Amino acid sequence: MSAENSKLTIDYTGMMYSSQNPNGFLREELEGLQTSLDKAQTSLSALRETGNMDFSKLLPNMKTQLPELLAYADQAASKFENFVVLGIGGSALGPLAVHQALNHYYYNELTPENRSYRPRFYVLDNIDPVRFQELCQVLNPNKTLFNVISKSGNTSETMAQFLIVRDNLRRLCGENYAEHLVVTTDQAKGNLLPIAIKEGFKRFVIPTGIGGRFSELTPVGLLAAAICGINVEELLAGALQMDQWIRETSGVFSNPAQLKAALSYLSWQKGKNISVFMPYVDGLKTIADWYAQLWAESLGKRNNRSGQVVSLGQTPVKALGVTDQHSQVQLYTEGPDDKVITFLTLEKFKRTQEIPIDPDLPEDIQFLGGRTLDELLFAEQKATEYALTLAGRQHQKIILADLNARTLGELLLLLEWETAYMGELLDINAFDQPGVEEGKNGTYGLMGRVGYESKRQQIEEFGKEKHLLSQI
Ligand code: PA5
Repeated sequence: MSAENSKLTIDYTGMMYSSQNPNGFLREELEGLQTSLDKAQTSLSALRETGNMDFSKLLPNMKTQLPELLAYADQAASKFENFVVLGIGGSALGPLAVHQALNHYYYNELTPENRSYRPRFYVLDNIDPVRFQELCQVLNPNKTLFNVISKSGNTSETMAQFLIVRDNLRRLCGENYAEHLVVTTDQAKGNLLPIAIKEGFKRFVIPTGIGGRFSELTPVGLLAAAICGINVEELLAGALQMDQWIRETSGVFSNPAQLKAALSYLSWQKGKNISVFMPYVDGLKTIADWYAQLWAESLGKRNNRSGQVVSLGQTPVKALGVTDQHSQVQLYTEGPDDKVITFLTLEKFKRTQEIPIDPDLPEDIQFLGGRTLDELLFAEQKATEYALTLAGRQHQKIILADLNARTLGELLLLLEWETAYMGELLDINAFDQPGVEEGKNGTYGLMGRVGYESKRQQIEEFGKEKHLLSQI
């Protein structure tokens, strides 16, 4: 399936019934979901009016905010040598994924000239103290801009990083320290906001109706992308194009989000509890991380919308082709038949690499000479599809015409919409994350935040009984 102007194609042959693929779905099975999909389309359109679906509704609005964001990005890029995102989950995975997809693989190692004088880019999405310190050791604070990203403005990890960085900057950069901090957060809530206002940090807003994992195409991701030289207009243009395709089409065989969600839903109903996302492009490896959060946090839910305990969700697994052909594909072809595999490929790479011909080499290796690395990669991907089909395992493929800001924008929106549709089919709320909040609250308790004393007590109670093995 592909639309006239879209540069993205969904090849779902490996999901469908054929003589080679007797376990595949029949067209009627997909058509059988049309009433539910129509209902989902109606409820998602309504949600688009009332919040939650603002990742779609506010896309045009993001476009109008670009001039301010781009002006700041250009100014920051001319002033700083390093740009560091402090954030976690939805506030880090998108910026990292887009950067790795579109910028040079060794961007930070390039000379400033070859980076078009844009700053080096780092994402600190964890609180490992050694990594944190070692990054601080290699960056000159006077040449570094830190972007603190937190929708809630409360997340312990990000706030802790922020407090350390702010303290360092105050000591090392003196009264201009505030110029080294830019904050991306909610416009009205959270603890980060009043500090940012009081201390005069530049601020960008994460709109209220967009959850963390749906926020890449807000200033969360757009600022980092713009600072590092990515064409954010094209990213948004691709996203808007996909958004329009999905909103303006009905029917499982015409609407890409409906099709993807229907395939996911049917496979889940048939016991495929694992969704493997396997790009065959190194640059898209981190998109698999981003997708894993989107799928896991949105769809892994204890309760359905009526409050019944359903404990459902498909476990996302990240893999990379061809690397994981030599690691995981054995399991996918011969292990339990509980997985559905989505390949992500390109029609063509932006560059090719020839393999030299050497007539003196042993005959068995000569077949490689004169071919290209991309030919080899495509052949391996095709061979993996074949092996899976032979083993009766279902697989599908998203193909981007090439890898650029536009096609990436399309891909992000497709996966966000698919997730929203899947939430509707599963009758769960895809936009909350009570399980994550529970962990956040537990951390507040253990770290002594006022008002969370009972959480601390509960956790300490849990920790009384232990089963340990150690030689010490
Ligand atoms: O998708 C989500 O809502 C979460 O993964 C959050 O992005 C993550 O927990 C970080 O939260 P925050 O941006 O509020 O610091």
